[in-house]
Amino acid sequence: MAKLTVNDLNVRGRRVFVRVDYNVPMEEKEGLMVITDVTRIKETRPTLDLLVQKGAKIILAAHLGRPQGRRDPAMSLRPVATRLPDLIHRPVAFVDDCLGEKVEKTVGALKEGDILLLENLRYYEEEEANEPTFAEQLARLADLYVNDAFGAAHRAHASTEGVPRVIARRAGQCAAGLLMERELKFLGEELEKPARPFVVILGGAKVSEKIKVIDRLLEKADTILVGGAMAYTFHLARGRKIGRSLVEADKTEVALAAEAKAQKRGVKFLLPIDHVVATRVDIGKRNKQGQPLLELQNPRVIPQVDIPDDAAGFDIGPETARVYADVLRGGQTILWNGPMGMFEDPRFAAGTNTVAQAVVEATEKNGAKSIIGGGDSVKALNLAGLGQRVTFMSTGGGASLEFLQGAVLPGVAALSDK
Ligand code: 3PG
Ligand code: MG
Repeated sequence: MAKLTVNDLNVRGRRVFVRVDYNVPMEEKEGLMVITDVTRIKETRPTLDLLVQKGAKIILAAHLGRPQGRRDPAMSLRPVATRLPDLIHRPVAFVDDCLGEKVEKTVGALKEGDILLLENLRYYEEEEANEPTFAEQLARLADLYVNDAFGAAHRAHASTEGVPRVIARRAGQCAAGLLMERELKFLGEELEKPARPFVVILGGAKVSEKIKVIDRLLEKADTILVGGAMAYTFHLARGRKIGRSLVEADKTEVALAAEAKAQKRGVKFLLPIDHVVATRVDIGKRNKQGQPLLELQNPRVIPQVDIPDDAAGFDIGPETARVYADVLRGGQTILWNGPMGMFEDPRFAAGTNTVAQAVVEATEKNGAKSIIGGGDSVKALNLAGLGQRVTFMSTGGGASLEFLQGAVLPGVAALSDK
């Protein structure tokens, strides 16, 4: 990688500002905020272990949710501070602010190998605004900078962009953490010259969100398998019936252009050939926003491409899942982004689970490299208990999508070149 990594730094006795992405999902249970998935925290352990071994004074900074400059207690990082010691097997101090006297005093008292977690950076609106004075104040806390927050690297915020710029101006080094390095390797370098066949499997709701990724991958992949609600837009573009399925009717041109490009480049571009559908029924209840609550009734398989007028698709059908799984099992490089259906509901999870199983088989039996592009596909894989059985799972959602599109991430651009 062309950027410095934490391996390149001499950190002994020095204060290191470490930006991490501890924006983890939480649920309120009996008045307490409880973390429901600690993956993003665990994945920073190699970087923290290394920094501790090398004798750094570690200042961890992160955001949680989008409090928009308000001190919303539901978005405090305190529950993270409480869990951290268990997850990284080291004591961690916490201050309920990310700036000010208390923070400075605590930082001043850090000894080699000590770890301090600061409170949610987004309690200050200056963080998202990348406000220069705020960045200066944060930068004053440290001598060196490490970014291990791949999941937030697509944001040009103070802690991801402003602070490293200030530290670099002072001739302090700014480096990628080990997680950041792995993310860039698997979502970047590994896909530059993939072992073939290179099979890409894309799902999710919207063509509009994925079109740039599709466009870029059409230049590298041998086969692209499409699932999720996105597939209905492609079907509509082909003039098929999609019933009442979720669709972006204004994106059919984009869909046709992608298919034309696939054909021109000899990329196999597969759409579902059958579906799991249900009927949306108004049960006379309303949600908090006052919209009618619809119940999905009569889930059933439609063994053909065309969906009846009263039904909506919620998963790929069993025949599609079988075809996709076969293609995946023959892959040598697999990139998966986006579920095949509404997998949170077990009635519509079979397609996603079959695909997940095939990805694992290709990895374990054929030595394929399987790379999971973050967000919902990671959630689905973990739900199926298969998370540990693929080559790499990204901790980024939006960041992985932007990176796969070929965008330069501001949080990476701000790091020092080797
Ligand atoms: C994420 O969870 O996607 C990252 O932590 C970034 O959060 P954001 O989308 O609120 O900027
Ligand atoms: Mg996000």
